[in-house]
Order: sequence, then structure tokens, then C-alpha cells
Amino acid sequence: GITRHYTFDIKLKNVTRLCQTKSILTVNGKFPGPRIVAREGDTVLVKVANHVKNNVTLHWHGVRQLRSGWADGPAYITQCPIQTGQTYVYNFTITGQRGTLFWHAHISWLRATLYGPIVILPKRGVPYPFPSPNEEVPIIFGEWWKADTETIINQALQNGGAPNISDAFTINGLPGPLYNCSAKDTFKLKVKPGKTYLLRLINAALNDELFFSIANHTLTVVSADAVYVKPFKTDTVLITPGQTTSVLLKAKPHFPNATFLMSARPYATGPGAVDNSTTAAILEYHQPSSISNPKRNIKLALLKPTLPKLNDTSFAASFSKKLRSLANAKFPANVPKKVDRRLFFTVGLGLNPCPQNQTCQGPNNTKRAASINNVSFVQPNTALLQAHFSGQSKGVYTTDFPANPLVKFNYTGTPPSDIFVNSGTKVVVLPFNTSVELVMQDTSIIGAESHPLHLHGFNFFVLGQGFGNYNSSTDPSKFNLVDPVERNTVGVPSGGWVAIRFLADNPGVWFMHCHLEVHTSWGLKMAWIVMDGKGRRQKLPPPPSDLPKC
Ligand code: C2O
Repeated sequence: GITRHYTFDIKLKNVTRLCQTKSILTVNGKFPGPRIVAREGDTVLVKVANHVKNNVTLHWHGVRQLRSGWADGPAYITQCPIQTGQTYVYNFTITGQRGTLFWHAHISWLRATLYGPIVILPKRGVPYPFPSPNEEVPIIFGEWWKADTETIINQALQNGGAPNISDAFTINGLPGPLYNCSAKDTFKLKVKPGKTYLLRLINAALNDELFFSIANHTLTVVSADAVYVKPFKTDTVLITPGQTTSVLLKAKPHFPNATFLMSARPYATGPGAVDNSTTAAILEYHQPSSISNPKRNIKLALLKPTLPKLNDTSFAASFSKKLRSLANAKFPANVPKKVDRRLFFTVGLGLNPCPQNQTCQGPNNTKRAASINNVSFVQPNTALLQAHFSGQSKGVYTTDFPANPLVKFNYTGTPPSDIFVNSGTKVVVLPFNTSVELVMQDTSIIGAESHPLHLHGFNFFVLGQGFGNYNSSTDPSKFNLVDPVERNTVGVPSGGWVAIRFLADNPGVWFMHCHLEVHTSWGLKMAWIVMDGKGRRQKLPPPPSDLPKC
């Protein structure tokens, strides 16, 4: 591979959406941010220079970061933030991945405006395992607030209330014609009849899983989280925050100058407030003039797609089950056959007592919280990876993250009366090359809800999912060990469970969290420490000299 150099200047820029202008954090003054393009095997160097008041870190979501954990980016997990006036060079090599990923800020809620696509092309001369597209187009979903990002996060954290819901969803940064005063802020994709387009869908929204569909067109899913899948056709794609899905769109052979809407709106089952509005972009046909037929050249009415209803969990479940690895000779599914470590995590909401002399917005004057196995993760003041590498874990983290829930109950039934969470900076330590099987169970505390869980540093295989409580004696027999989808973010089904398996072959400290930003803020997160192996290529190298200090 070659080395590709990027310079990312973090700076403010005035941006107008929904008829209001605000100053937002951007990379190089662009919103959404610039696209990173690399081939499998390339090394990417991104020099990030912070010209704003906020502390910043960037994360290359889904990039495996094999032995390059210092470049992963979650604040206080793998690095201290890049402070005003500082620079840091993220240096990583893309190994064994091709498809679509994205980058985003990984501190506070700054990813609201700091995000952009990562396009990983196959090695030179290597074709796609599907018909070669005529054109490739990133479609990145986001969320827009009229208020500034700080105001939103304070609402969620200080008083323990649900945060303000966003004012619009966006496609490539634009709300689209269904929002007030946004007709001119509409992304337009011009297609030619008969041609094939690879749409690289990315959900960079903060708090909403999304359904996406294009009126009168069928999509063929070919890749998820930068791993090829067995192609399948669908009218609608479900995509959670943190997931990427590449789809082929075949433009119809003969069309007059017609316009279709492609639109996205939430899938949500939880009790939280949800913006159920619809973002839309325009798909416009361009008839080459040689075959244009004036009689057929009529502008059709804007055609809108039909999307599943807000809480359509059965669509979500059946869509997820269609995703399968190619599992062929060229692209085998290397599912770990043996399991060294079995873990069971409950994921869900909970409550914290309201601090004295404060008024909180949660039920009965409590603060909303979220936890894994009843532990709400407390962000340390220094980076876990630095503490681990230098052998100075004391006072930073403890290694007693529970392997099972601290409070056992019927997870999909009535919750216990005491739903307060424990707090701590607890990690699970794994020897190098441990094969982990992890079942994640949604709890009904405060409400059954789908949680998109994202694991840094690894891809995992999704072996199975189901509704109700996971049954460890009957459910494993139904696991798919043949062609399970391999990815980095999976929705734990609302009122159900999902089972994943991964090989801990990447030494370092790896964050795992719900990719709904509000749940991450409330503590639905934890970290894994993967120890060094014996060989030289099984060890984490020392930190780069420009790694920021806390
Ligand atoms: Cu896309 Cu830890 O994040």
C-alpha cells in the first residue's frame, strides 16, 4: 500500500440550516467534513490541528487499528484530547477491510457536526464481488439542532433530562424539502437511465436509528461495516448510528426527466423523545439528449417512498437476519470455532440519585443513567490506554467489570423497584487471542429499546438474535456459525438479545458503547483491555511522541 496524507484543521464556520445561522465546528470549513479515500493496505496519516476552544479527538469508526490503538481516538480511552493550538497525527494502516466507514469526533457531542465518510477501495486491480458501479456516492445521515451542541449535552447530563430532540435529520448535511425553508438545502443525485450506482450509506446521526428508502426503486445490499455481504434486495434499509451499508441502485432503463425522493426517518421503540420527521434528497433522472423523447419528457410529480412505521421492530429483526457474510473461498467468514470466554451483558437504562440541593428531571427527581451489567461507566481524567501501557492503572480504572449482571431479574418483564445503577471505571481484561462470546440483553428498565452497540478495535460475528430473555441452554443451538454477518455495530433488539463472537487479536484498550450519544453520555459504555501477545507482531508499540497529554 501507499501512504496518504490528510490535513484536518478544526475550525469554526457559520452554517445556515432551517433558516437559522450558527457557528459550528468543522474540518477545513466543510460540513459534512472531507472524505478520506484509501485502498485496502494503505497507510493513512491525518494531521489534526485544533484551532478552536474545545478539546477535540477524532475517531476512525470501524477501522480495526491493528496494533495502532494510539490512533483510535475516543477521548480518555485511547488518548487525551487535542487541546487548543495543538496538533496530533493519527497514523493507521487499513488491513483486511474494504467498503465504507466514517470518521467522527469522539468527545462530548462534538460529532454532531464533525463527521465525514471513509471510502476504502479494494487493492488496485481487485474487482468488487458485485457488478461494478458506474458511479459511487456517499450518503451520510446526520442530525441538526438549531441550538448549539453544548446546550444540548448539558440538558442531557446536568439535570438528567432527556436531551432536546434534533430539529432535523440531514442527508449529506442537508435537511431536504420536507422541512420548513429547506427546499434549497436538498441533496440531489443525478442518475442516467440504466446505470448502476453504489450508494455508501452512513448513519452519523447522534440518537436515531433510521429507515432509508427510495421511491419506486429496489436496493441491493452488498456490504455492511466495510465487509461484503451476500447481496440481497430490499425496498428499505435499516441503519443504526455507527453502521454503514453499501447498496447498489440500478437506474431504470427508460425514464423521462423524473424525480423521486429518497428519504430517511427514525426507527425507535424507546421512551425517549424522538424526532419523527423525515429527511429527503432527490433522485433525478437525466435522459441523454440522443434518446430523449419530447413526448415522454414530462416532469412527474415528486414520488415519495413508503417507510416502515416508527416502532416496526419486526421489520428491524427480519432485515438484520438477511445480512450474511459471503463466506466463500475468497472472503471466508473466520468465525472463532472455540470459545475461551463467555460473557453476558445487560444493556439498558437506569437511574442515578439526584445530587443534594439539585433538581433533576428524571422520574421522582432522579437523574437518568444507562449501564452495562448495572455499571454506569465513569469517564476517567486520563487516558486508559496510557495508564495501561505505563502500568499505572491505580486510581484510573479497576479490572472488576462484572461478567454477569449485578441485578438479575426477568429482563423483558417488570423491572425491579430499585433501578439505580452502580458507577465505576471498570474494564474486562483479556489475554491476547482470547475468543469471546458475548450475549447482550436489552432490559425493560424505563422501557424496552434497541441499542446499537459499537465495539472499537474489532469486527465481530453476529451469531444470533431473539426476543425475550436469552436462554443459554436452548438458544446457542440456533447460532449461525456458517455465514454470520461480520461488523462493528449491532442493534441489540428492543426487548431481546443478540449474540456475537470476536477474537481478541488486537492488543490495546478498546471502547464499547451504545452509539446513541445520549446513552453513551449516561454511561452505557465499558472498555476491554487486550494484553500483548508474545510475538513482536502481537504487541502494542509505544505511543507516538506527539500524543496529547491530559
Ligand atoms: Cu463511532 Cu466509539 O464510536
